[in-house]
Amino acid sequence: MRRAAVYCAIDRADRAAAEMLARSIKGHVGGLKLGLEFFTANGPREVEALQALGLPIFLDLKLHDIPNTVAGAVRAASALGVRYLTVHAAGGRAMLEAAAHAAAASPTPPKLLAITVLTSLDESDLVVQGIVRPVADQVMAMAELALGSGIDGLVCSPLEVEGLRRRFGPAPVLAVPGIRPAGGALGDQKRTRTPSEAQAAGADVLVIGRPISDAADPAGAARAIADELDRAAA
Ligand code: C5P
Repeated sequence: MRRAAVYCAIDRADRAAAEMLARSIKGHVGGLKLGLEFFTANGPREVEALQALGLPIFLDLKLHDIPNTVAGAVRAASALGVRYLTVHAAGGRAMLEAAAHAAAASPTPPKLLAITVLTSLDESDLVVQGIVRPVADQVMAMAELALGSGIDGLVCSPLEVEGLRRRFGPAPVLAVPGIRPAGGALGDQKRTRTPSEAQAAGADVLVIGRPISDAADPAGAARAIADELDRAAA
């Protein structure tokens, strides 16, 4: 079984707190996930500063705009040297292809991951947008669109990962949030899996935030997750 990489979600706008957390877990995680909160508050130079600690960065900007604008943003993010960058599949084929071309043209191309359907949306939200098929079918259609447009992988819920892996085979990178160690607090995540369950279902990247960042001992929490994944993958 492939050993999944843990990317710790640093959902903090405060850069000093983010750096302290990143330093403490550095030896026990595969990378750091920085989202809109961190990026909007601190900007690209602080992304580079965290990256300089020696961990790859998953830059979760969920880009969604006209193709030319997204291509420009992908070029700029690629120049930072981040490992993963997210875009919305809902931006459409031309936007996704423009993003893929922009990344490929960079000397340091990130892997692009597409959001299929935000997990905060339910069927009634989709109906308002004129989408009447079930959420699961919409996820599959958006996944097909993204992967058919040159996008490298998908962000998906722990409940979707197995079906997507079966449908699309070993190539796409599948990045999975909503992970909770057995017995841990769920927080606002409702449909969760443990790290080893998500790895067994075919996840390549586990995005884990509060179970590490809010732990009394973040390094210990990260190490326990790494040990669990090592044992299960051995
Ligand atoms: O703290 P927690 O482990 O829930 O953090 C998970 C991270 O993954 C957060 O940064 C959250 O924004 C992100 N995420 C998520 N659920 C999704 C997509 C992204 O929790 N469906």
